[in-house]
Amino acid sequence: MLNQFQCTAAEFNAAAYNDADSIVLFLCKECAAAIDKLELPEAAAKAAMAYTAQHDDIYDAGSVTTLVMPQGEKLLTLLIAGCGEGKDCKPNNFRKAAGAAARALHKAKAQKAVLAAPIMLNAERSKNLQALVEGLYLGAYTFNRFKSEAKQAPLCEATVLSAVPEAAAIINAAEISAEAVCYARDLVNNPGNVVTPQTMADDALKLGQELPLEITIMDETLMEARGMHALLAVGQGSHNPSCLVALRYNGNGYAPYTAFVGKGITFDSGGISIKPDDNMGEMKDDMTGAGAVLGAMRAIARLGLKCNVIGVLACAENMPDGKAQRPGDIVRAANGKTIEVVSTDAEGRMVLADAVWYACQMGAKKVIDIATLTGAVIIALGNETSGIVANDDELVEQIKLAGRMAGENYWQLPSLPECKEAIKSDVADLLNSAGRAGGCITGGLFIGEFVDKDIPWAHLDIGGTSTATKTEGFKVKGGTAFGTMTLIKLAGML
Ligand code: BES
Ligand code: MN
Ligand code: ZN
Repeated sequence: MLNQFQCTAAEFNAAAYNDADSIVLFLCKECAAAIDKLELPEAAAKAAMAYTAQHDDIYDAGSVTTLVMPQGEKLLTLLIAGCGEGKDCKPNNFRKAAGAAARALHKAKAQKAVLAAPIMLNAERSKNLQALVEGLYLGAYTFNRFKSEAKQAPLCEATVLSAVPEAAAIINAAEISAEAVCYARDLVNNPGNVVTPQTMADDALKLGQELPLEITIMDETLMEARGMHALLAVGQGSHNPSCLVALRYNGNGYAPYTAFVGKGITFDSGGISIKPDDNMGEMKDDMTGAGAVLGAMRAIARLGLKCNVIGVLACAENMPDGKAQRPGDIVRAANGKTIEVVSTDAEGRMVLADAVWYACQMGAKKVIDIATLTGAVIIALGNETSGIVANDDELVEQIKLAGRMAGENYWQLPSLPECKEAIKSDVADLLNSAGRAGGCITGGLFIGEFVDKDIPWAHLDIGGTSTATKTEGFKVKGGTAFGTMTLIKLAGML
């Protein structure tokens, strides 16, 4: 059970619709011709065929049309969830459609629903099935922990019809994956007075008790001993101490480890280079990268994936006070490189500098960092696409593929050696900020300076995608936990 839904698998047959109070019909334009093959109850079949014959504007992915009809003494709700034009019936359209359908079912107070899609008559459509179930659970997410009177939708038992032989296992995996994304969304949506670096550490320790994950927590004293002054400098103005959290998952013997390293700034005020006050509260989402890594590790361990993964969370709160770092300060990171602090608001790359180094120390042979690193990525790519800066094109292709499987978009930015000139300092090795030009690129390249030589590395900038301004498809207004699903899918490909 997740977000008041409980999905089970069933094969197509007329009896599956018995006692359903609602039916969701997932339709792309091309599949509408196959409605008669779904063995729908007569009233629903007639209504669906008549309606689709008259309306061809119902197929936008994420749009839901509600038809209510009598069925014996009761009413039957028929929801037509648009899944696009058809062509190859893209799984991500089903993910969006199911997200919107989930909210429509809750709104209709459905308690017993059947989900039917003509495409799922094809036994090979396991990807559509998985995306549909993930989307259903994700779209039903709510965050009302702080509402004194929260309305909760009734529990809805959803039977998902398909001819896919391994449907039950796929639905189970989809629930575990979606649950991890919702877990990360909760971490993001909770404000900075609730989620502190210590909370992140406590959550990891809790995961370590329940799942096969080996947890290491480094407090400020331990980090000091390892020379992690870049990370420590960021948190030194906060009363909430910084920490670095590491999770090791061994699911594949002696195979090389891949590290997922997340930016975990539980609140980013900017520090002494303080941010303007409008919407500063949004910066509670500045730990989305760490939340995504924690969520992904949770799912990877629960799924028992055959891979070796290290998760590292670089946690600190960026605040201004008498002990805070100042612009102009020079600090030495754990790998020995010195950093001139141009802006205390360019703190993400500083905590990640020590964290990616630590991932390499732990033996990672590939490193992927994920961070709400820059506002510049919003200017470059908008709010639907995350940026990638990397030193290895093969790794980038893998991430983009995982992203497509996850319903998360990425676009690679150029990583030219020439761009590194901009982050050279006159008085230290590196500048933590090179100004506005190509800010997403220079921010990424800075982090790459702390990854061991010859290790394939990619940086994911989720600055534009971490928070949704409206509820749409499988996204719910607030923290999206962008990247969680990509990392889960990527781990499945390792
Ligand atoms: N967390 C922010 C990036 C951010 C800002 C993401 C707004 C999404 C919305 C990051 O720590 C930051 O402040 N970056 C600076 C970097 C600059 C000082 C080089 C930025 O983007 O302005
Ligand atoms: Mn900042
Ligand atoms: Zn930040």
